Amino acid sequence: MSNLHPDLERILVSREDINNRVKELAAQISYDYRDAEKIYLIGILKGAFIFLADLCRELTIPHIVDFMAVSSYGKTTSTGAVRLIMDLREPIDGQHAIIVEDIADSGKTLKYLYQVLQWHNPASLRTCVLLRKKKNMLDVPINYLGFDISDAWVVGYGLDYADRFRTLPYIAEMKQK
Ligand code: IMP
Ligand code: MG
Repeated sequence: MSNLHPDLERILVSREDINNRVKELAAQISYDYRDAEKIYLIGILKGAFIFLADLCRELTIPHIVDFMAVSSYGKTTSTGAVRLIMDLREPIDGQHAIIVEDIADSGKTLKYLYQVLQWHNPASLRTCVLLRKKKNMLDVPINYLGFDISDAWVVGYGLDYADRFRTLPYIAEMKQK
């Protein structure tokens, strides 16, 4: 792409490929929960807000959207403990819940959220993750996965680098500094 920002190396996942995959994921979720009265989609801020917005509008089953926020770590390092900054608005006891997350790298964030949400005693708990960086992540299930990607810092479609590049319509790899 000719007008790619100079800090970006290349486009990893195009807008079109994201759109198609989001539709597939929504169709799969709609099918899997076709007998459920409703499901709770729990988006993890900030990174998952665009993915969640697109995903939920493709669902054909009743759903409720809620959000949680966890502390983001440094700019591009995954050191430090995960901390809950914002909890759910409504209890999800006895409900079907799906965590919607932008990316799993070490899996630490997803594992933490999975444990926290288990304490809410949902009827079922699954995870929907747009991008997975490492296959040797911590032991946490990813039930719905968008794409496996290589191990580089990526931005766009909700993902940021120090809050930049979040609203790019595609997913791009940053240049190594
Ligand atoms: P993990 O806890 O190591 O799996 O990291 C997951 C969290 O780190 C995600 O929720 C993102 O907020 C952030 N993250 C990890 N890798 C990237 C990346 O390449 N771009 C943007 N954010 C990332
Ligand atoms: Mg995140």
